[in-house]
Amino acid sequence: MLKDKKILLIISGGIAAYKTLELIRLIRKNNGTVQCILTEGGSQFVTPLSVSSLSGNQVYSDLWSLNDESDMGHIRLSRDNDLIVVAPASADIMAKMAHGMANDLATTTLLAANKPVLLAPGMNPEMWENTATQVNITTLKERGVMFTGPNNGEMACGETGLGRMSEPEEIFTAITDFFFEKPLKGYTALVTSGPTYEPLDPVRFLGNRSSGKQGYAIATALRNAGANVTLITGPTNLPDPQGMTITNIQTANDMLKACTNTLPVNIAICAAAVSDWCVDAPSAQKIKKTDDNNIPKLRLKQTPDILKMISAHPKNRPELVIGFAAETQNLEKNAKAKLKKKGCDWIIANEVGIDENGIEKTFGSDENQIYFITQDQNEKWNRASKDAIAQKLVQQIINYMDKNNGS
Ligand code: C5P
Repeated sequence: MLKDKKILLIISGGIAAYKTLELIRLIRKNNGTVQCILTEGGSQFVTPLSVSSLSGNQVYSDLWSLNDESDMGHIRLSRDNDLIVVAPASADIMAKMAHGMANDLATTTLLAANKPVLLAPGMNPEMWENTATQVNITTLKERGVMFTGPNNGEMACGETGLGRMSEPEEIFTAITDFFFEKPLKGYTALVTSGPTYEPLDPVRFLGNRSSGKQGYAIATALRNAGANVTLITGPTNLPDPQGMTITNIQTANDMLKACTNTLPVNIAICAAAVSDWCVDAPSAQKIKKTDDNNIPKLRLKQTPDILKMISAHPKNRPELVIGFAAETQNLEKNAKAKLKKKGCDWIIANEVGIDENGIEKTFGSDENQIYFITQDQNEKWNRASKDAIAQKLVQQIINYMDKNNGS
C-alpha cells in the first residue's frame, strides 16, 4: 500500500514512544520505507537498536555526527523523504518548531525541511491544555502542519484527559490519508466477523473455530480505502481495529439485530461463521450432571440467516452483498449453489479442515486460499495472507462501485 513512499519519522521524548515502534512495523508491513530520527528525549524511552532493527535503517540522532553530517544529514533527511511524521510530538518539540529553534538534529531537520509534516502529539493533559502549547499548535496549523490526535483517555502518569498519542493504526491512517485519495470515501460498509456463541446454559455454548481474522482484515482494508465501517463481531481474541464502529455480539440473534440496526449501508460483507443452530430453550441455570448418568438432550432450532435477510431486504438492500462459504467438500459447486440460495452478489469460498501436514487450512490461520465467485466469474486466488486477500477483495469492491456509480 505504501510502496515507493518514504517517511521520515521523528521520535521525540514521551512515554508513547514505545507505540511508535508499532507504527514503524505497520509502515514496513505495508511496503513503505521509514528512516528515523531519535531525539535525546526519545532515546530515554526506546533504544536506537530497536528503532533501527524495526525500520531496517540506520537511526539518526546526533546533529554533530561527522559521518552523518559530512553529507549534510539534516538537509538530506527531508529531501530524501516524502513526508515527515513526528510521533510522539512532545510539547517541547512543538514549541521549538513554532519558534524556529534548531538546536538538535530533529529540530534542525524540521526547520530545514521542504516536505509536509504530520504531528502526533502525546503529553500530559495539563501540558496539552496549557495556553503556551495551544498557541504553538495554532501557529503550526496556520503554517500547514497536519495533526492527528491526541486522544482522550488515561495517561501513563495516572491522570485522565486529552493528551494520549493517537494509536499507531490511527497515525498510519493519517499517513495513508495524506498519500492517497480514498476511493471508498462516502460509502458505508457493514462487516460481520468471528464465530457466534449459542448458549446451552449460562456457562456452556455451541460455537465454532472461526478466529475472526479474515473479517477484521476486510474491515481494516475497507477503512483504509475510506469507507465508514461497522464491524459486527462475535467473540475473538483480536484487538479492536481503530477508526471504525465495533459492535460486539454473542449469538446469531444478536448479530441479526445489530445488522438490522446498521442498515442501510452501501456494502455488506458477511464473513462471520454464524452458528446454523441454537439451543431451543437454553437453561437459565447451569445444567447439573446427575448421578444416574442422565445425559441431557439438546433440542436445536435454526438460527436466522443474516446474509439471506440482508440480501432480500425489501427497503434497505445494500448495493453489494458478499457472503462467505466455508466448505469441506465440493467447494466450487456448493459455493455457486449458495450464491443463488442466499441471493447475494458474490461468494468468497474457502476450504476448511486440516491439510496434509495436519495444519488448519483457514480457521485461525494467518493465510487463506479462496475462490471468488460471482454470477459470471469463478476465480481461484492464490494462497496469501488474510490481509492480502482483504486488500484484493476491497480492490474488487472499489472497481464494482466505480462501475455502478458511473465514475
Ligand atoms: O449457510 P452457510 O453457513 O453455509 O453460509 C455461509 C454464509 O452465510 C456466510 O457468509 C455467513 O456469514 C452467512 N450466514 C449468516 N447467517 C447464518 C448462517 C450463515 O449470515 N445463520
